[in-house]
Amino acid sequence: MSKLKTLVIEGAGQIAPAKVDDYLAIGGYNGLKKATGMKPEDIIGEVKKSGLLGRGGAAYPAGKKWDHLLHIPEFPKYIVCNADEGEPGTFKDRLLMAKLPLRVIEGMTIAGYVFGAKAGYIYVRGEYRKIQRVLQEAILHARGAGFLGKNILGRGFDFDIYIISGAGAYVCGENSALLNSTEGKVGRPRIKPPHLAEVGLFLKPTLVNNVESFASIPTIVENGGEKYFSYGSPDSGGVKLVCLSGHVKRRGVFEVPFGPTLRDIIFDPELGAGIPDGKRLKFFHLGGQSGPIGGPGQLDTPYDYKALTKAGLSVGSGAVVVMNEDVSILEYLKGVTEFFLHESCGKCVPCREGNKQIYKILCRLAVPGQSQPGDLGILRRLVDTMISASFCGLGQSAAVALNTAWRHFKEEFEANAVEGQAGAEAA
Ligand SMILES: Cc1cc2nc3c(=O)[nH]c(=O)nc-3n(C[C@H](O)[C@H](O)[C@H](O)COP(=O)(O)O)c2cc1C
Ligand code: SF4
Repeated sequence: MSKLKTLVIEGAGQIAPAKVDDYLAIGGYNGLKKATGMKPEDIIGEVKKSGLLGRGGAAYPAGKKWDHLLHIPEFPKYIVCNADEGEPGTFKDRLLMAKLPLRVIEGMTIAGYVFGAKAGYIYVRGEYRKIQRVLQEAILHARGAGFLGKNILGRGFDFDIYIISGAGAYVCGENSALLNSTEGKVGRPRIKPPHLAEVGLFLKPTLVNNVESFASIPTIVENGGEKYFSYGSPDSGGVKLVCLSGHVKRRGVFEVPFGPTLRDIIFDPELGAGIPDGKRLKFFHLGGQSGPIGGPGQLDTPYDYKALTKAGLSVGSGAVVVMNEDVSILEYLKGVTEFFLHESCGKCVPCREGNKQIYKILCRLAVPGQSQPGDLGILRRLVDTMISASFCGLGQSAAVALNTAWRHFKEEFEANAVEGQAGAEAA
């Protein structure tokens, strides 16, 4: 039986992306048409039943977030789509926006209807220039066909969408930094609470959801939350776009129901199809650079939120980066840390200095004879400090790969390490 399930990406590549007529021909806008005949709380009821967890990485229940915003009496409210997609190894939102922009727009328009919002913003990764043009074209066509703008579908509600371009900073994917950047301020994270549902864009109540989350809304509304849930496993309803890359024979975006094992995802002929050149798998990295690293002993873990969490892993953004036996874990982690070192916004010490020190120690550990006494102990302390004391999710997750890799490859960390207390030997 196929491990794939085409639902949210249904029609991708089969239609002219920005053409409303093409989108209508594949059942587009059925969700919005149905939604406008429903009460907002009933729509949220369906989102709750679907079990949809935010697909941007944090896995916050979408229904709960929507419910919270619905009960905030202040207006105007804003709808914001997080299309920053800066997480390395993650390229699923790109596919949705390039091939099915109107599905993302439809999901946002349903949210606009639910919350009585007049404006929505799609904050798109700066590097996705061509995609920004596709989205803009789709917005123009949707407006022309009466699916955006004034009196949508003749149902008396107004909603429009505007594109905001990011400028290449990973931290701007963090939802509060994203709102600051959208407002034209420096893209640095805000302190929370207050929640963005209360004090969001322009200090007004705001919904921020990921591209894939919004693109899942039309099918949830059209066919019901229970139906959507039923595609997945009892612990994780629905489907997920998985981005496979690295040492697998088949790389790309695959839509799967929750439930197959990691072994299925990496080795099934319809999915990753295994490791090329007869090599063995050494490790896999889930959810992007900010996610955990797993080893071959965890391959039989089902790909669902609960089972992965129980195994110390996570779905995150949906990235699955696979590495073969030739890869040095220390060299790999140097690359991960270099990324965070580059992307740290510098606002808080644990992240700004922690990444720097971790990088230096990893460089020493990777070369025989370079390690200093106490390197391993300091590395462990830096990891704990960054996870517990960083101001935002970037710093809190920057050392997760290192922390989890330690469990599987302790001997590689120790191979070149010099024993002893930091400072004592140096004195
Ligand atoms: C450093 C950092 C970068 C992030 N980048 C993204 C991103 O590119 N896209 C995204 O959807 N969420 C990203 N997130 C998560 C968002 O803060 C937020 O959880 C998400 O937009 C909420 O939407 P969802 O509930 O639909 O997932 C990032 C978080 C952090 C801490
Ligand atoms: S953890 Fe601190 S330094 Fe790092 S990105 Fe967040 S706010 Fe900036």
